[in-house]
Amino acid sequence: MNTFFWRLLAVLFIEFYVFNVALSTERQTLSLDKGWLFHSGDISFPKITGHNMTYLSAKAGTAWGAAAPDFDDSSWARVTLPHDWATEQPVNPNANISQGYKDRGIGWYRRSFKVSTEDKGKYFEIQFDAIASNAIIWVNGTVLHRSWCGYTSIYIDVTPYLNYGDKINVIAVRVDANTQEGWWYEGAGIYRHTWMLVKSPAHIETDGVYANPIKISEWEWKIPVETEVFNSSEKTIEIHSQIQINDIHGTIITKSIDNTSLAPLERKTIKSTLFVNKPVLWSIDNPTLYTVSSKIIDKAGNADEEVLKCGFRTIRFDADSGFYLNDKNIKIKGVSNHQDHAGVGVAVPDALWEFRVRKLKEMGANAYRCSHNPPAKEFLDVCDSLGMLVMDENRHFNTSPEYLNQLKWMVKRDRNRPSIILWSVFNEEPMQGTENGYEMVRRMSHAVKELDTTRCVTAAMNGGFFSEINVAQGVDVVGFNYQMDKYDEFHCKNPEMKLTSSEDVSAFIVRGEYKTDKTENITDSYDSECAPWGATHREGWKAVAERKYLAGCFIWTGFDYRGEPTPFEWPSVSSSFGIMDLCGFPKSAYYIHQAQWIENKSVLNIIPHWTWPADSIGKDIKVMVASNADSISLYLNKKFISGQLVDKYEMNFWLVPYEPGTLEAHSFVNNKLVKKSTVVTTTEPKAIKLTAYRPGLNGDGIDAMPITVEITDQKGRHIPVENSHVSLSIKGPGKIIGVGNGDPRSHEPEKGNSIHLFNGLAQIIIQSEEGVGDIVLTAKVQGLPVSELKIPVVSCSPKPYVGFNNTTKKFIIDKWLCSPRSEKKPDPTRKIEDNDMNSWEHIQTGSKTPLNKGSYVIYRTKINKQNNNYKRMSSLILCNTTGIKEIWVNGKNAEMKIDNANKSISVSLADIETTGYVSILFQSENNSIGIDKAIVINN
Ligand code: GAL
Repeated sequence: MNTFFWRLLAVLFIEFYVFNVALSTERQTLSLDKGWLFHSGDISFPKITGHNMTYLSAKAGTAWGAAAPDFDDSSWARVTLPHDWATEQPVNPNANISQGYKDRGIGWYRRSFKVSTEDKGKYFEIQFDAIASNAIIWVNGTVLHRSWCGYTSIYIDVTPYLNYGDKINVIAVRVDANTQEGWWYEGAGIYRHTWMLVKSPAHIETDGVYANPIKISEWEWKIPVETEVFNSSEKTIEIHSQIQINDIHGTIITKSIDNTSLAPLERKTIKSTLFVNKPVLWSIDNPTLYTVSSKIIDKAGNADEEVLKCGFRTIRFDADSGFYLNDKNIKIKGVSNHQDHAGVGVAVPDALWEFRVRKLKEMGANAYRCSHNPPAKEFLDVCDSLGMLVMDENRHFNTSPEYLNQLKWMVKRDRNRPSIILWSVFNEEPMQGTENGYEMVRRMSHAVKELDTTRCVTAAMNGGFFSEINVAQGVDVVGFNYQMDKYDEFHCKNPEMKLTSSEDVSAFIVRGEYKTDKTENITDSYDSECAPWGATHREGWKAVAERKYLAGCFIWTGFDYRGEPTPFEWPSVSSSFGIMDLCGFPKSAYYIHQAQWIENKSVLNIIPHWTWPADSIGKDIKVMVASNADSISLYLNKKFISGQLVDKYEMNFWLVPYEPGTLEAHSFVNNKLVKKSTVVTTTEPKAIKLTAYRPGLNGDGIDAMPITVEITDQKGRHIPVENSHVSLSIKGPGKIIGVGNGDPRSHEPEKGNSIHLFNGLAQIIIQSEEGVGDIVLTAKVQGLPVSELKIPVVSCSPKPYVGFNNTTKKFIIDKWLCSPRSEKKPDPTRKIEDNDMNSWEHIQTGSKTPLNKGSYVIYRTKINKQNNNYKRMSSLILCNTTGIKEIWVNGKNAEMKIDNANKSISVSLADIETTGYVSILFQSENNSIGIDKAIVINN
């Protein structure tokens, strides 16, 4: 029989084996976002004094203070993650300007959970997607991670530390957000998602599947797939592995199989290459995603599977002609962004990423620079599925192992994504023009290349370009931050180097303002103000568009962000660089870029509005029209003013004496009218208009969306000059999680039920609660009828999550000291010397201890009723005991209630007021003694 036959047989066998055996275990990805307790401010650790305390404090499982499992957290606030406590703070003129004048400080989080005894033997990993900024994480009293970066994920194998059954597990996290890693608003707290992964002992590691399609010929592509597997068990495990690729319809298009074995605690990479013919390509306009599934299964049927999306596309940079996607030369029309949004800070609900990326795409942007740190993975999911190119950026310029690991983590997490086109290793580093900087970049680039050779490494430089040795020599694509006057000189001197602008523009616009007034921290909407190192939106794009060798631009910024209120200071608290404001409301720059960037649709927008006060009548109003047509004609109240040929970079300007009514623009291509646009003088406010971004929400308690608030006139027209105060209330399965209006000078609370409109607009972010029904959002403005908006919340199964309902009615005491054995009856109340760390042994209940017949031992435990959680402790139940002779509570021989039916002994703890000891005297009758479980009951 030929090899084909055997191969077929093997596939059929695996097919049967993998899909028809009743699986014992499959991976569970459980959300840990709910059920956290939060304490604002630090909690100092108790002073460690005595020798015994000092000795113990150095041991695993013995953390003190708020890190200790039994710490009293009963007064802490319950929060659901993502959580950014800085958004809850008022702005403070004495706080850091770059961080948006928000006090950040220190905070603590704790979360308890139980794990079923049935899950013993599985592998457990907890994950924090990011914590701002520095964090220490303890699990059950052992410190398991120290995080020095607010933008990287933390994965912790907690398997060795878990308690099963009724024993409670406690995660404690101390977050230090006083630390600053950036010069922008960074938020504070556990601001991205948290997860618990429960996997089979033989499993695929986190970020352990690498599947990045590579083009071989016009028709043929290969996908080398690497799957990193690990065996956490004590036995060697034989595993079958199967890789499968599905197209958009879910049809399997190819698969491969393999067998291997994993020794205890062995890590291995399973490699295989799959081939795909004529795939539908991933592109900006048609972001087709295929699915790669890598599955392993052991002989007992325990399985683990990682499913990820991949896209077939080629990318290439050229020193003369810029960037190519699928061999098509395209200009990168990119924006740089930070990650905060109005109302929610950096704790951005997943659905808002989609809102933000869609707004950018509607503007004609095709690329996004994650400045200056790796983003949330949910954001990248959106970029993959909507077709947005991404420059992924590392935070710290440092090649020490700690920081190099952060860079490697970023590449490993994100290297399957078709959206990622560039890895940026730094932004504007003073060492960029030195040999030291070059040596560092060389190492960083090498670290990236070890994980991914298909994308270029870049660095965003703002100097050092002409030094003899500089980092441009260590990257694949040289990134220019500003320095527009050096583009040509650098290209001339380094014609073989590939170049892009990595950051440009830095213009200032306050949405809806048309007159710069520096005393009021206001800049106008005519694109007339920019940073001395930057350019206007129009100049910036012209410089990039006219240079073929420049791959494109990444404008600073797509959205406003808190902090860096340049060129102003207090009372401005957020930036005005954005093409959109903090809420994602377009500024005039949005329309300028639509005109510059959109090619397949007519763009015609008039700036400003046409609702001016009576004393403006007859005075000149500056009018800018942004269009991608050939020419424009302008009319006021149907009277022709004049026509102009479109200046595609500068846009077109008129001075029009104000007269209430309608200002109308007509645009023409090849002398044919292609579009009309108007701005109209509005009348008195008549109604509050609430507009939901989407028709409804999923009732999963996670889905969210922005609602726009505006005020309209008699004819339902938006009034652009309204600044009324709006009061809000909400009923039904939803809540308001933030409010904003895009005014960089706004000091209004972002959490609350009211907000002023700013130049006609405000935004409310609502989030569903678990359930079904209608959310009714009510808005009130003095003098106007109340407005209501109904938002249907549809049924949607909530994400599975780790339960947190840890009833403190009953819990287990499992920390005991066991005395030396003795033949003579010992004194159960005898003192343990503070310097004696060796005579008594630390033990846990649960197993019987062999002991010669007739011999004695004492078990002793400390009871602490100072803790609010435990102050109602009434009795101790000792289950399934062997050999108990006496029980002493606080030095007194206690009465034992023996329940023969349940084989348990109950002892009252009433004699202990605050703290005390329980001592149990055992004498062996049958060569063993012990207790299965010691349960404390609260009254
Ligand atoms: C750049 C920097 C950005 C931002 C910007 C403001 O130098 O990379 O983070 O500060 O300036 O213009």
